[in-house]
Amino acid sequence: MVQNDYKYIIHNGSKDRSGAKEMFPMERAREARKFHRQIPGYGITPLRSMPELSNMLGVSGIYIKDEARRLVLNSFKVMGGSFAVKNLIEKKLGEKNLSWDYLRSGECRRRLGNFVVCSATDGNHGRGLAWVCQQLGYLCKIYVHSETSQPRIDAIKRYGASVTVNPGNYDDACRRAVKDAEENGWEVVSDTSWDGYTEIPTWIMQGYMTIMLEAQEQLAGVGVAKPTHVFVQAGVGALAAATVGFYSALFPNDPPKFIIVEPDKAPCVYESIKAGDGRCHSVKGSLDTIMAGLACGDPSPVAFDILNANADIFLTMPDYVAARGMRILSCPLKGDPFVISGESGAVPLGALFTLVHSIKNGTCDSELKKALDLNEDSNVFMINTEGNTDPIQFHRIIWDGSDPVPRKFSDMDIR
Ligand SMILES: Cc1ncc(COP(=O)(O)O)c(C=O)c1O
Repeated sequence: MVQNDYKYIIHNGSKDRSGAKEMFPMERAREARKFHRQIPGYGITPLRSMPELSNMLGVSGIYIKDEARRLVLNSFKVMGGSFAVKNLIEKKLGEKNLSWDYLRSGECRRRLGNFVVCSATDGNHGRGLAWVCQQLGYLCKIYVHSETSQPRIDAIKRYGASVTVNPGNYDDACRRAVKDAEENGWEVVSDTSWDGYTEIPTWIMQGYMTIMLEAQEQLAGVGVAKPTHVFVQAGVGALAAATVGFYSALFPNDPPKFIIVEPDKAPCVYESIKAGDGRCHSVKGSLDTIMAGLACGDPSPVAFDILNANADIFLTMPDYVAARGMRILSCPLKGDPFVISGESGAVPLGALFTLVHSIKNGTCDSELKKALDLNEDSNVFMINTEGNTDPIQFHRIIWDGSDPVPRKFSDMDIR
């Protein structure tokens, strides 16, 4: 029998929702959205419903929050960076509830003095942060790792940030950004946390709650009070923690099933869960996956605690699963909407497809099948976290067919 090449852990965490309730309260979600609404160009991103694909996969509904349409940025990341910059400025000035207009006012800039924002990125966080700083009129310094593609670097520079390419991987770029910030008196606005640096990454995760708040209202609009399954991708785990935290806080007694998806070449959250000691563990090496936004070797500890307590299943998936997700979305079944989705954006859908495929062809382990409990009443929620943020790579995959599904997994008869 063909062996599947994804890995999974069915996780019996504490299911203690108190950390989620504390970090992701509804008031904070409302505060984040109130702020985001003031950003010029803000609009609610679409929730894509895929009725035909749902039918094919034997579930009631698949709903995809399309963050490729977020502002002009092609990715969800700006929601975190913008909320963190606002909170940081408020803290520095000893104020609360500052408006977007005030943040960009000459008075605010004068009061702050030399305020320079700095971060490492694997692309999208840096792009979002650069855009926010440009809109508000502050300097921004971004650090990328040596494998970062030129289109990603150009997209950051386009918004006025200076970009430093640092040898090594994403985690090396993080260390360099912190060192340079210390030497120059810059403010590190990182989406990942570490010992002694948790406040700003928490604000970033809280900023992501606007996405879930919008989605909940959109789901209610189509008669879904609560998704039964949430598939969410993890790099350092901040988005996954925000999603899992939001739903755990909202439905503490009966939350959806949370399925966390990572690339098999950068499975830092998976490996940390596997270690089973409640601590973060690093994955070393080049982290060479097409899912650039998920190519992280160190989980964010504040995010990991939320995932460890609340999430149900941890998956690692090969690159072709993300590529297949991209192709399904860009060439949907007749009647379903067309969605532009990048490598990191499409892996949850690719994972769902792969799992259902393996259930239907009898290669899925029975314990995983039981834990997933996907059936005709399931309403699956996921986030397309990016569009074609690297257009060259996007065309390589969609047009030229790179990262194909291996022949042994390409039997498409899954009805
Ligand atoms: C497109 C995209 N999706 C998902 C993620 C994962 O987010 P996190 O690092 O918070 O897990 C990232 C991170 O950069 C990303 O760029």
